Amino acid sequence: MQFSKPLTAFSTSDRLSLKDRLQIEYLVNANILAETEKVLSQDIINGLIQTPKSLPPRYFYDDRGSQLFEQICQLPEYYPTRTEASILQECSEEIARLTGPCEIVELGSGSSTKTRILLDAYDTLGLPLRYLPIDISGGILESSAKDLLVDYPNLYIHGLVSTYELALSALKPAALPTRMISFLGSSLGNLSPQECDIFFSQIRGALQPGEYFILGIDLHKSKQILEPAYNDSQGVTAAFNLNMLQHLNRKFEGNFNLRKFEHLAFYNEKLHQIEMHLKSQEQQTVNLRGLDLTVTLEAGETILTEISRKFEIETMQQYLKKQSLITMKTWTDSEQKFGLILSKFSPEI
Ligand code: AVJ
Repeated sequence: MQFSKPLTAFSTSDRLSLKDRLQIEYLVNANILAETEKVLSQDIINGLIQTPKSLPPRYFYDDRGSQLFEQICQLPEYYPTRTEASILQECSEEIARLTGPCEIVELGSGSSTKTRILLDAYDTLGLPLRYLPIDISGGILESSAKDLLVDYPNLYIHGLVSTYELALSALKPAALPTRMISFLGSSLGNLSPQECDIFFSQIRGALQPGEYFILGIDLHKSKQILEPAYNDSQGVTAAFNLNMLQHLNRKFEGNFNLRKFEHLAFYNEKLHQIEMHLKSQEQQTVNLRGLDLTVTLEAGETILTEISRKFEIETMQQYLKKQSLITMKTWTDSEQKFGLILSKFSPEI
């Protein structure tokens, strides 16, 4: 077997150095990045010239935004991160037993705190550890990969600096008997139903029959729990939302005045989604020189910056099934706040 050689050929005393266990591949080069940026900046223009106005949630995540998001994950009101982690603590050994030796491909690896829970489980069962984090930020990918390699002496990492789409279309065959693509944190909630369809077909296209997909989703629940999670008492989510304007100012020579906008987040019960907006406090004109764009906002007019959809496990299972992703097992917490679905690509069923 391909994987058994590097993993058994070395004893603890002559372990491979960090460098030998790390490979980072850049699927995006400066040209592709510039091209992607261009397409995405067109989304900004389209979003701001129409009514109602919107901005793509990806502009939350400059350095400051990523820091603020890490802070959000620690907030007492923001239950998703810790709930998902607690479910993973409970079920990760079962996942490892279900898949057996398995390469973990993670979309949007970030600080990979949750991945550690999975890696621990595979390690405990004595299974080989191979991890393919995919992230658009090479810096974050490299630094969290190095931290992981220090903590897991048996771990091999093959990171891909790439968009999800490109990485999913370019995955080489797994180096272990099977593979599991993981998409955690309910990031799926940011996608519209149409974007979801496209995303799932990309997942399906990246899997061989018998390979796995693990998905974390935030579940339907009362407004009384949802709304505080996006309107925390310390104002971190408000700062996170407003920071998008700062990011755009810097990137596109803009003059958004943050004091003239207010954070607004509420649960749209009909669509089962949190909506985050930035509300203009007065009539104002904003300029983004880098985009050659001038926009006028009315007093009280809002810009939609994010949807965070909430799901039901059963509906999601049916949805996955349409892509031949057949549920192996689902898990939730005692209060059914968050769900995990492990599915297997079974095109013959
Ligand atoms: C990263 C999309 C899962 O929707 O809960 C947190 C982002 N926005 N607080 C979410 C977010 C405001 C988060 N996701």
